[in-house]
Amino acid sequence: MTLDPSTGATAPDGDRGAPSASDTVLTDGGEPAGRHGSLWTATSEPTDYGPLDGDIRVDAAVVGGGIAGIATAFELVERGRTVAVVERDRILDWTTGRTTAKVTSLHGLVYDHLIDHFGAERARQYADANQAAIERVADTVDRLDVDCEFGRAPAYTYADSASDRSEVRAEVDAARRLGLPASFVESTDLPYEVAGAVRFDDQAYFHPRKYLLALAERVADHAQRGDGSDDGGIYEETVVTAVDDGDPCRLDTDRGEVVADDVVLATHFPVSDHALYFSRLSPKRSYVLAARLSEEAPDGMYYDPSEPYFSVRPHAGSESLVLIGGQNHRTGHADDTTDRYRELERRARERFDVASIEYRWATQDFTSVDSVPFVGRAAPQLDGVYVATGFGGWGMTNGVAAGVVLADLITGRSNPWSDVYDPTRFEFGASRSDLVSHNRHAVGHFFDGHVRGRPDLDLAGLAPGEATVADEHDDPVAVYRDEGGAVHAVSAVCPHMGCLVTWNDGERSWDCPCHGSRFDVDGSVLDTPAVDGLDSVDLGADDEDRSRDR
Ligand code: FES
Repeated sequence: MTLDPSTGATAPDGDRGAPSASDTVLTDGGEPAGRHGSLWTATSEPTDYGPLDGDIRVDAAVVGGGIAGIATAFELVERGRTVAVVERDRILDWTTGRTTAKVTSLHGLVYDHLIDHFGAERARQYADANQAAIERVADTVDRLDVDCEFGRAPAYTYADSASDRSEVRAEVDAARRLGLPASFVESTDLPYEVAGAVRFDDQAYFHPRKYLLALAERVADHAQRGDGSDDGGIYEETVVTAVDDGDPCRLDTDRGEVVADDVVLATHFPVSDHALYFSRLSPKRSYVLAARLSEEAPDGMYYDPSEPYFSVRPHAGSESLVLIGGQNHRTGHADDTTDRYRELERRARERFDVASIEYRWATQDFTSVDSVPFVGRAAPQLDGVYVATGFGGWGMTNGVAAGVVLADLITGRSNPWSDVYDPTRFEFGASRSDLVSHNRHAVGHFFDGHVRGRPDLDLAGLAPGEATVADEHDDPVAVYRDEGGAVHAVSAVCPHMGCLVTWNDGERSWDCPCHGSRFDVDGSVLDTPAVDGLDSVDLGADDEDRSRDR
């Protein structure tokens, strides 16, 4: 909960510039090594598309400028449609800008589960969609001559211990049955032993922002409709506040109205959540280090599906740089998120000869209750509204596949993979227990937060860098004192459904443990489903005085 004031503020996420390489070997309580911010944003051009300015009319509107939104817009533009992408912040800066960017159809241990719970036919649809997505990326890189560090490599999911080897073997059998390029191997290019691994050949990796910025440029270049209006393009810093389905659909934004034949909601949560997606998606945070090794990076991309997971992939820009991911936890459920970086570094140093940590960052993903994303018509009662969400950390291929599925549905073509992704599916099967547990968990947090007593606010006892949730005149407040001593006070009540937020020291944010909304220290929304921010709180003259007395 407490940050070391001597460390100073970290650079904000998305900060660009040269890394300050560090060869610090961590000790407990030390500031995590590496520059705080994604390697991908630091090594690509920032965007500045500008906000919407007044009302527009387009063929299709896409809400959300991550991989699913940009891929969908690109596919539609390729078919001659005019598209407006509306993004609350900057495109490609959030989950897509913070991924490890493995372009692979090997998603941990998923295929045995899919065959069991969906049957072989739908499992094959998932396999085909993700395998085709790799080739879709490769073709696009080639056709548009995109300089995005695209490279081919095998992907592995490995068992760390002999007791897990049978699961790996079952995954190989399931994947081969579905026609995937799978084999069982016992040795890899990793510098440590594994008990067995699924290997998929001819998978890929890339620089996600460089690839998708090229696609976004294409979308922006095709702004003109058949009627001569040029309303299509990318609109950043534009907040969608309401979606009306119909013929046409209408988006209300804080900058004007968007009228479109079809609307795609490619945010984590649909703006208008008529189908209760919040109850079917579980939020997860995970951590990434860009580590420079003293040796050459291993060939291949590696994933250990234990809890927490551990993943490694080489970085195409350098022979000795690897991206190491893991330390996942449910959003709002880690006492010390800074410690997650330290633990990830400790595990990296245990396994590799690490010369330095160059970057560190965290990301947020949402996983559906049955592990398959929701891509398709948002709800049966909504005309012209589509959704793409719940990629569960495997958005680089699922996001590209979502673009193809949605473009097909919108342009009236049949799509061979749409059944497995159908958001209105209700064959939860074994996932019913996950659904119940996910929602029981959220309800538990709601009552826990409100029933359990909190201390009265003691502003004088709050040191720089510290944060607390406390009572102020019987209302729960979330208070952070920054490194300069200024106090930031907001309501601790999440505007989505009323749970109390918790402090995330690693990112300096307020995170909701119920459905994963996140807010900055002044209450602005960082992650949905909350649409509105946390109310600011005036602590009053007495508290201000106490604050100044520090
Ligand atoms: Fe749902 Fe906070 S109550 S995200």
